[in-house]
Amino acid sequence: MREITPRKIMEMKGKEKIVMVTAYDYPSALIADKAGIDIIFVGDSLGMVVYGEQNTLNVSIEQMVYHTRAVAKAVKRGMVLADMPFMSYEVSIEEALRNAAKLIQAGADAVKIEGGYDYIKLVRKLVRVGIPVMGHTGLTPQRYLRLGGYRLMGETEDEIEEILRDAKALEKAGAFAVVLEFVLADVAKLVTEEVKIPTIGIGSGPYVDGQVLVWHDLLGIYENVPPFVKKYADLRSMIQLALEEYKNEVKEGKFPEPKHYWEFLDKEDLEKKKRKAIERLLEEPVDE
Ligand code: KIV
Repeated sequence: MREITPRKIMEMKGKEKIVMVTAYDYPSALIADKAGIDIIFVGDSLGMVVYGEQNTLNVSIEQMVYHTRAVAKAVKRGMVLADMPFMSYEVSIEEALRNAAKLIQAGADAVKIEGGYDYIKLVRKLVRVGIPVMGHTGLTPQRYLRLGGYRLMGETEDEIEEILRDAKALEKAGAFAVVLEFVLADVAKLVTEEVKIPTIGIGSGPYVDGQVLVWHDLLGIYENVPPFVKKYADLRSMIQLALEEYKNEVKEGKFPEPKHYWEFLDKEDLEKKKRKAIERLLEEPVDE
């Protein structure tokens, strides 16, 4: 069992900020875990930042299982959380249970679903069979068509009520935390004060219990970043520069240098072995 569990995450509310980041492969997860990140999250955002899709609607449960397995192999300390992709939990509770089990069997410690109030039966059932659940309200990218795009949430009375209702319903159903995505900071504050489970914000200001960012956004790899992202590095430029240098050195014959390859030290021995090898080759029958 990993050191950080859903229970530990719940206990961190009000005591210590929770840090969550996405990771989709083994080396990234290894780095995130070594950096002391609390929740290493295989988000369905991989559809966009890894697979180049325009949205997350085409991500399949098979893709999520594949990436969760790679991430889970790397993580020893942090908690591994896996996203349930679009239409993997909406059709029926039975199908949702089977799909959630696939993510747990791939090495996740918990699953995340987008939604709250509308999914309380499912959350209750998942929790009852032993699968910890994180909910997600505010901007839910899997519903961006209904929401009218990727936009700030919580400006109207109806939206404030809906976000608060989701968070409270998730808490009641047994979810261990809830993501608040692109919600007005005052609304995120209200929700954080009103529920006992931790709130993890993305683009929702500082008055929440933790923060989550997408790996490619915070490291400056992905070009189309949302306005609330802080870039902690510019890896895109660094990688581009490194690749250009590599290309130029190969073209100019500067790479590889002697320290990158091995030669026969005894050139007489080399000549003998080369001759022998060619002779043996000439004696070998040719397969038609
Ligand atoms: O898939 C994802 O990366 C997410 C975060 C934006 C919370 O759901």
